Amino acid sequence: MKNKLLFLGPPGAGKGTQANLFCKKYGLEHLSTGDLLRDEVSSGSALGNKAAEVMNKGELVNDELVLSIVERRLNNINKGWLLDGFPRNVNQANSLKNLLDKINQPLEGVILIKIADAYLIKRLLERGRKDDNEQVIINRLKIYREKTSPLIDLYRKQGILEEIEGNADIDVVFSSIEKALGR
Ligand code: AP5
Repeated sequence: MKNKLLFLGPPGAGKGTQANLFCKKYGLEHLSTGDLLRDEVSSGSALGNKAAEVMNKGELVNDELVLSIVERRLNNINKGWLLDGFPRNVNQANSLKNLLDKINQPLEGVILIKIADAYLIKRLLERGRKDDNEQVIINRLKIYREKTSPLIDLYRKQGILEEIEGNADIDVVFSSIEKALGR
């Protein structure tokens, strides 16, 4: 059973929602770099304050900081894991590959949640997180297209990518993910 996973997709696609459900049902560790960064921001640390400025503009936090957070967590997990929101660019994907080679835990499956921009903007405006205003959402979508979407081809070429339609009820999307992962 595949249990070293990555959920990929634009902001608002439902990565966090689906990753939560999946990890609860199958006992995997959910590693969301967005959540981990927001924890750092809430702690009021100097790093958190610096990250908040970047996140509130919809830009990417620097790779070294994100990598150090992920590395610390991955090194201490004894069960399967699910990455959500990481990697976010080719550099992070290469670093992840090096890290996973080192700990001998190769990535086994990538789920791409696909959905049109118009639905995403509506969903995120309704959610209303600090970085969910129209201008910042448009920037997050731009960054996704420029920096993150090249990872789709990377994982497709490795033969581990499964594509899921994200514009459906939460339980329907969840069933599609389970099916794609052979659960
Ligand atoms: P992050 O927290 O990762 O945000 P994101 O990728 O923009 O993703 P979202 O959380 O907005 O969307 P999601 O796909 O998880 O959808 P969700 O399930 O929440 O990153 C935030 C920021 O942190 C980045 O901009 C960056 O600055 C920084 N960052 C994070 N990782 C980084 C990294 N690796 N490198 C550098 N910087 C990084 O759902 C969204 C809404 O839709 C919710 O309200 C939900 O209830 C609703 N919803 C979900 N599914 C459905 C459905 N099927 N039908 C109807 N509504 C639905």
